[in-house]
Amino acid sequence: MMQNPESKWFGEREVEADEKTRLVRGVFDSVAPKYDLMNDLMSGGIHRLWKDRLIRMIRPKPQDHHLDVAGGTGDIAFRIRKEAGPYAGITICDLDENMLNVGRDRAINRGWLDDFNWVTGNAEALPVASESVDVYTIAFGLRNVTRIDDALNEAYRVLKPGGRFFCLEFSHVDEPFLARVYDGYSYTVIPRIGQMVAQDRDSYQYLVESIRKFPTQKQLAQRMKAAGFDYARFTNLSFGIAAIHQGFKA
Ligand SMILES: C[S@@+](CC[C@H](N)C(=O)[O-])C[C@H]1O[C@@H](n2cnc3c(N)ncnc32)[C@H](O)[C@@H]1O
Repeated sequence: MMQNPESKWFGEREVEADEKTRLVRGVFDSVAPKYDLMNDLMSGGIHRLWKDRLIRMIRPKPQDHHLDVAGGTGDIAFRIRKEAGPYAGITICDLDENMLNVGRDRAINRGWLDDFNWVTGNAEALPVASESVDVYTIAFGLRNVTRIDDALNEAYRVLKPGGRFFCLEFSHVDEPFLARVYDGYSYTVIPRIGQMVAQDRDSYQYLVESIRKFPTQKQLAQRMKAAGFDYARFTNLSFGIAAIHQGFKA
């Protein structure tokens, strides 16, 4: 299969790859202040259950180095911190400084600011040493990355042998009736909530479109294998509205 086929799609708009990265950063610059509120409103809080499920699968341990890529405002890293305790090594990496700033504010409110290593960087070229990470996570991030195969290769590079990869992402609903209901909801309701709450319809239109462009569960597992991962597999959440992919670096 051709590498990085999504790199020319910003939602349903065809763009140059570098422009896509710039546009994605623009989306998150714009939504950062309302990001957490919007997640709760759009999903009715269900994203919290999906994130909790991810953490149960990881079983975070204090001796592991956790790298949360596209970590945004910290939802995954904070859950890891809660489970693994204050001595865990946790790096939060994100392309967008505004999202990280909201995350830092949230960490300050919890008294946790110094419990994380905050890094600005691109999932496609991580500023992280090879074979230095035990657990790599990326939640609702891979869909936004311009070159998905490059990001998978980078995840493989930074993981230690024996390291584990986890991706939580919107995915594809198989059942035709449910898929139609979900499509109707996402194309009509989500951009409207985006307009009303964040005064930003376009970013939420992009969100909906980007979900449709993201590879299916099986395609993503295949691409993880191509990047070198063993035991690439997935677990559907809420009928495939989201999925958790896991892989292992032998
Ligand atoms: C939908 S948010 C997810 C944030 C968080 N992981 C969560 O689950 O709430 C997506 C994040 O991916 C980041 N992002 C987009 N492209 C990226 C890239 N190429 N490398 C690193 N982060 C990226 C965005 O800045 C944004 O913070």
